[in-house]
Amino acid sequence: MFHVERDLGESTALPAELEPPAAASAVFGDRLDLARRYCMALATAGVERGLIGPREVPRLWDRHILNCAVVGELIAEGSSVVDIGSGAGLPGIPLALARPDLRITLVEPLLRRTIFLSEFIDAAGLEVTVVRGRAEQSGVLKEAGGADVVTSRAVAPLGKLAQWSLPLLRDHGRMLALKGVSAAEELERDGQALERAGAGNPMVVECGATLVPTPTLVISAERLPRAERAPRRRSEHAIARREAKAAKRAGAASVRGRKSK
Ligand SMILES: C[S@@+](CC[C@H](N)C(=O)[O-])C[C@H]1O[C@@H](n2cnc3c(N)ncnc32)[C@H](O)[C@@H]1O
Repeated sequence: MFHVERDLGESTALPAELEPPAAASAVFGDRLDLARRYCMALATAGVERGLIGPREVPRLWDRHILNCAVVGELIAEGSSVVDIGSGAGLPGIPLALARPDLRITLVEPLLRRTIFLSEFIDAAGLEVTVVRGRAEQSGVLKEAGGADVVTSRAVAPLGKLAQWSLPLLRDHGRMLALKGVSAAEELERDGQALERAGAGNPMVVECGATLVPTPTLVISAERLPRAERAPRRRSEHAIARREAKAAKRAGAASVRGRKSK
């Protein structure tokens, strides 16, 4: 059994392998200490509870914490951000640590994960909201909809992500899907599904080029107002209806929202 105080709240004495690289000071500034606590929480409770693989521990900074935080480069000051499928808090928690000006909501269906998130948020004194549920559920839409930005990492293929992310955005808001080296390929493959879901101006953007060894690739697309969407052909209407039915079948389940201190 881990200890909230030891693992999620107090400890900043990191083993040598978990010491942050120099870039972490540039990214987190005077909140570096909080980022160190998060790193420690992932390496201890995160691994013990099966939220992060033990093999990820030596690369927590470069591959996870910093790679996620640099996506802040794409987000305007004071934006509301919904991170869907946060898991152990990626990218939502690094963004909240690096950018206290953002209003961040983490959406995650699995209780074990929301407990970890809430414990860390409370221990670190962050103002981040955790909503338990699936991004496509009506309760989540009610609680977290109208956002300026919806982020995600390793949650679903692009077409599905668009169906889950776009309804949570305000018109002209942006979905930012963190992807690997296959980002351009995925955009090529799923570009039409993105358009069918109501997205426009899609592009692949690179973040953190001067800060992390492997820059983060992000597929960015805008939620178009209905009037600006391309008119659909009949066959496209049929596909869209099928997709909407499938999303509905996923059903509305209990959604529990909570606001941390
Ligand atoms: C592979 S994990 C990635 C977690 C985290 N984003 C990361 O990069 O480490 C995928 C996460 O998406 C969540 N998830 C799956 N379907 C979802 C949905 N429809 N809405 C919200 N979250 C979902 C899962 O519970 C899981 O925590």
